[in-house]
Amino acid sequence: MEEDRLRFTRDSLIDCAPKVAPPFQPDFVIAPCLSADLPAVVEIERLSFPTPWDRLAFEEEMRRPFARLEVLRPKATGIAVAFCDYWLVADEVQILNIAAHPEARRKGFAARLLAHIVEQARLASFRLLSLEVRLSNTPAQALYRKFGFRDVGLRPRYYADNQEDAVLMDLVLGE
Ligand SMILES: CC(C)(COP(=O)(O)OP(=O)(O)OC[C@H]1O[C@@H](n2cnc3c(N)ncnc32)[C@H](O)[C@@H]1OP(=O)(O)O)[C@@H](O)C(=O)NCCC(=O)NCCS
Repeated sequence: MEEDRLRFTRDSLIDCAPKVAPPFQPDFVIAPCLSADLPAVVEIERLSFPTPWDRLAFEEEMRRPFARLEVLRPKATGIAVAFCDYWLVADEVQILNIAAHPEARRKGFAARLLAHIVEQARLASFRLLSLEVRLSNTPAQALYRKFGFRDVGLRPRYYADNQEDAVLMDLVLGE
């Protein structure tokens, strides 16, 4: 009797179990940069680049109609740990910048931002994504190659601070 009751309870529970897995809820959001994000963005920039942009430069990006300055915020803190900046120019997406806070690196945040940019570009039928990256910046080049970007050229002594060459990389969509 007790055994039948237990079996009934167990079978009813199995019947009631949802038949589809609940939708995956990421523990972060990617969203347009707000004024409240700027202190975090400026700090990430300062810790990431030899000639960092200041707050005014980011505010200018936020005002440009063809620029997209976006941040990745973990839901747990709501504080941006990575950002990206890209321009929509004709049929091309030009990536100006992607950076993650040094303490938040190698956790997949830049990859999530790049996946987001590529998805936006595909949805809006852009033909090409392009960027320039310092020759010595092998981590960033590895990130871009992971997404299928190819080396397509070199701009000699492109960076004014140390005369470093820039590698031109692109990803042709729809190939
Ligand atoms: C380059 C940068 C944005 C990567 O950010 P991140 O959040 O640490 O990168 P992710 O964790 O998403 O890594 C994604 C992939 O990038 C590559 N990568 C990232 N950091 C790397 C490193 N230090 N060495 C080698 N490959 C690296 C790997 O292919 C990695 O995939 P894997 O983890 O499966 O090996 C980050 O190092 C950074 O902010 N650097 C300073 C700013 C900068 O140079 N930006 C690029 C301007 S063009």
